[in-house]
Amino acid sequence: MSVAKPLPHDAAPLHVAGTARYVDDIPTPRDTLHLAFGLSTIAKGRITAMNLEEVKRAPGVVRVMVADDLPFANDVSPSAHDEPLLSDGTVHYVGQPLFVVVATSHLAARKAVRRARIDYAEEPAILTIEQALAADSRFEDGPRIYEKGDAEAAIAGAAHVIEGTFELGGQEHFYLEGQAALALPGEGGDMLVHSSTQHPTEIQHKVAEALGVPMHAVRVETRRMGGGFGGKESQGNALAVACAVAARATGRACKMRYDRDDDMVITGKRHAFRIAYRAGFDTEGRIQGVSFLHHAICGWAQDLSLPVADRAMLHADNAYLLPNARIESHRLKTNTQSATAYRGFGGPQGMVGIERVMDHAAHVLGIDPVELRQRNYYAAPEGGSAPRPSASPRSISSGMKENTTPYGQVVEDFELHGMTEALLASSDYAARKAAVAAWNAANPIVKRGIAFSPVKFGISFTLTHLNQAGALVHVYQDGSVHLNHGGTEMGQGLFQKVAQVAASRFGIPLEMVKITATDTAKVPNTSATAASSGSDLNGMAVKAACDTIRDRMAASLAERHQAEVASVRFGNGQVEVGEARYSFAEAAALAYQGRISLSATGFYKTPKIEWDRIQGRGRPFYYFAYGASVTEVAVDTLTGEYRILRADILHDAGASLNPDLDIGQVEGGYVQGAGWLTTEELVWDDHGRLRTHAPSTYKIPACSDRPEVFNVALWDGQNREDTIYRSKAVGEPPFMLGISAWLALSDAVASCGDAYPALNAPATAEEVWKGIRRHGDGI
Ligand code: MTE
Ligand code: MOS
Repeated sequence: MSVAKPLPHDAAPLHVAGTARYVDDIPTPRDTLHLAFGLSTIAKGRITAMNLEEVKRAPGVVRVMVADDLPFANDVSPSAHDEPLLSDGTVHYVGQPLFVVVATSHLAARKAVRRARIDYAEEPAILTIEQALAADSRFEDGPRIYEKGDAEAAIAGAAHVIEGTFELGGQEHFYLEGQAALALPGEGGDMLVHSSTQHPTEIQHKVAEALGVPMHAVRVETRRMGGGFGGKESQGNALAVACAVAARATGRACKMRYDRDDDMVITGKRHAFRIAYRAGFDTEGRIQGVSFLHHAICGWAQDLSLPVADRAMLHADNAYLLPNARIESHRLKTNTQSATAYRGFGGPQGMVGIERVMDHAAHVLGIDPVELRQRNYYAAPEGGSAPRPSASPRSISSGMKENTTPYGQVVEDFELHGMTEALLASSDYAARKAAVAAWNAANPIVKRGIAFSPVKFGISFTLTHLNQAGALVHVYQDGSVHLNHGGTEMGQGLFQKVAQVAASRFGIPLEMVKITATDTAKVPNTSATAASSGSDLNGMAVKAACDTIRDRMAASLAERHQAEVASVRFGNGQVEVGEARYSFAEAAALAYQGRISLSATGFYKTPKIEWDRIQGRGRPFYYFAYGASVTEVAVDTLTGEYRILRADILHDAGASLNPDLDIGQVEGGYVQGAGWLTTEELVWDDHGRLRTHAPSTYKIPACSDRPEVFNVALWDGQNREDTIYRSKAVGEPPFMLGISAWLALSDAVASCGDAYPALNAPATAEEVWKGIRRHGDGI
C-alpha cells in the first residue's frame, strides 16, 4: 500500500531540475500583454488629479485603465466588498493600486507606471494601535469577547498575580514564487485563468463578477505554487481580475507578476498584535484565571481579519486547562496593507500570549517552566497517553469533570502528557538545563538559554460550511488513473499524499496515478487549500470517488464469476475474484467492455463540528494536532546577536500519510515560526511606508540559520477521529513550535539579571540587546 510510505514529493525531480512549471513559465501566445499597477504614495487621502498622459505615451503601452474603465464590479475582496481593484478616488495605504498599465512587456509596463503624475489631498493616516483606538477605527462594532467562568474574581483571589503587555510583529510570507496570473480569452466571452492561488474557486468567482459573466464562463487552473503560506488565499485576486479585465478589453492574453518589492508593498501580511495579560496562579503554579486583551492590526480592508482574530482567541488556551478565562479582541482598521492569512491563521498569536504567561509565571514563581506547564495541561483522555505522576497534573478522574476550552469544546484527544515526557527524554532536557545554568555561571559574555513549548492546534475551518471537498477520478481502459481534487499544491506535498490514497484504494502502484492540476471545471465550489485541512478533506473525497469505481468494478467481476462482491480483492496491482486473477489493467478493460462507468466524483464533509462565532461557543474543531519542542540558543550579550544551537521536536501527525513529507512540514514550519519571532521585522515609517520591502532589509531565516542540531521525529500515534487513514493535518501546527526559540532567548536574557526579560517579538538582535540592558543587572 502506498499510504504511510516516506515517498518523496511527486514534483521533486522537476523542482531540482528547474522544470516544474509555475504560472510565469507557461508558454504564452505571441502577442501576450503584460500588466503593472500604479501604486499610491500616500497612506490616506483622496486623489485630486490623476495625469496619465505620459504613461499612455510610454513605449510599449497598449492601454491604461482606471476604476471608471472597469466594466463591472470593482472589487477583489474575499467577502466584505470593501476592496476595490483600482482606487475609487480614495486612498487607504501606501502601495494601493490606483491604475493598471497594459504593455507589450513586463519591463515596459513597469517603466510606464512611473510616469504618472498624481495629486492627492492628504489626510492624517491611522498607523498605530493608539491612533486606531482614538479614532475608533475598527472592523465589527466593538470587541469580541469569549469568556469562561469569572477571570477577574479568580485573578483577584490568586496567590500570585502577573501582568504585562508585549508587541507581536507581523510577517511577510516570502513565498519564493511571487504572485502571478495569466488570463487567456476564449471564444464567446469565456476566460481561462492560470493563477498562483490557494483558492481557484474564489479567483473564478471574482473574475466572473468583474467580467459580468456566470461562473461557468470562467475556468481557473492552478498546477502549483512556489509557496503560499496563506498569502495566496485572497491576495491573488487582484492580479487575476486585472488580467481577465485587460484580456477582455484587448482580446489578447494578459499576464501579471509582481516584482518582489511590489509584492511586499502591495500584499497583506500576518496580523501584528499587541497582547496584554493578567493572570493569577496558586503557589504550586496552577493557573486560576487569565485575562487577555488582543489588539490586532488588520490594515485597510477586512479581508480574512475576523476569522484570523477569532482563531487567535481560540488558541489563547493552547495546551492549558484554564478554569477561568476572558479574551477580549479588537480588530483595528489601519492605513496599512490589509493583513491576511498566514500559516496558523491567528492561532500563533493567541498561543504566544499564553506561552508568555506561562514563561512569566515560571520566572516569578521559580518553578521549572516545563513542570509548570505540565501542571496546567488539559487532562489526558482515559486510555490515552499517561500523565506524568510526579507533575500531578489534573486528570479527568481526579475531580476535574470538565476538560473544556474557554469556548466550550471538550478536549478528548490530549496527547501532550506522553509526548512531553518522550521529548524531555530524547532531548536530554534536564541535563542540558543544568549544563546551561553551569555555562551561564562561568561565562559572562555569551549566555545560553533553553526552553520548551507545546502546541495544541485546532483542525477545521471555523466557518463550518468551508469544511467540504470534492474529487474527480477516472480510470482509463489501460488501468491508468487520472486524479483530480479541489486542493492546491504549494510545496506541502498534498498531491503526493492524495495520490497515495488513490493508489492504495485501487491497490496499484503510485506510477499508475496521474496527478493533475487543480481545475474549477473538474471540481466545483472548492474551499481554499487552507486551515491545514487539504489532505483531510481532499483525501477523503478522493477515497470516496475511488471506492465508488472500485465497487462498480467489483460488482461486475463478481457477477461475471458468480462470486460474492465481498470476495473481490484489490492489491499488488491485481484484482482477485475467487480463483481468477486479473491485472488491474485487465480488470479495467473488462469493466469498460461490460459498459461499467469508470469515472466518479467523490465528496466529503467534516462531521461533528458546529460553531457560533458571536457567542464563542461550540465545537469549531474536529480534533486537535499536537507538538512539542525544545530549543537551545546562545546569545552574545554585547551585541544581542544569537544563534539557535539545537532544536528537538516531537510532532503528532496521527498515522502519517507520508512521514518524510510530514517531517519536511515540521522542519519548515519550525524554522518559519522561529523566523517570525526572531529576525523577521517589518518596519513602517511615520508616513506609512513599508521600509522593509526586500530581502536586503527583511531577514528571513537562511539555510545557515537552521538549528545546528535539528532532531525531528513524529509521535507514533493515530487520530482518535475517523480521518483519512487516521492521519492528522500537519501544515500549520508545527509553525508554532518556533515559539520555543523565542522563549529560549528569553531564558538566556533572564540569566543576565533578576527581572523578567519581557521581550517583544520579533526578538531581533536589537530587541535582545535592549532586553539585556532593560532587565540585566549583571552586565
Ligand atoms: N508548506 C509549503 N512547502 N508551502 C506552503 O505554502 N503553506 C502552509 C502549510 N505548509 C505551505 C506549506 C499553510 S498556511 C497551510 S494552511 C497548509 O500548508 C496548506 O496545505 P495542507 O492543507 O495540504 O496542509
Ligand atoms: Mo493557511 S494560513 O490556512 O493558508
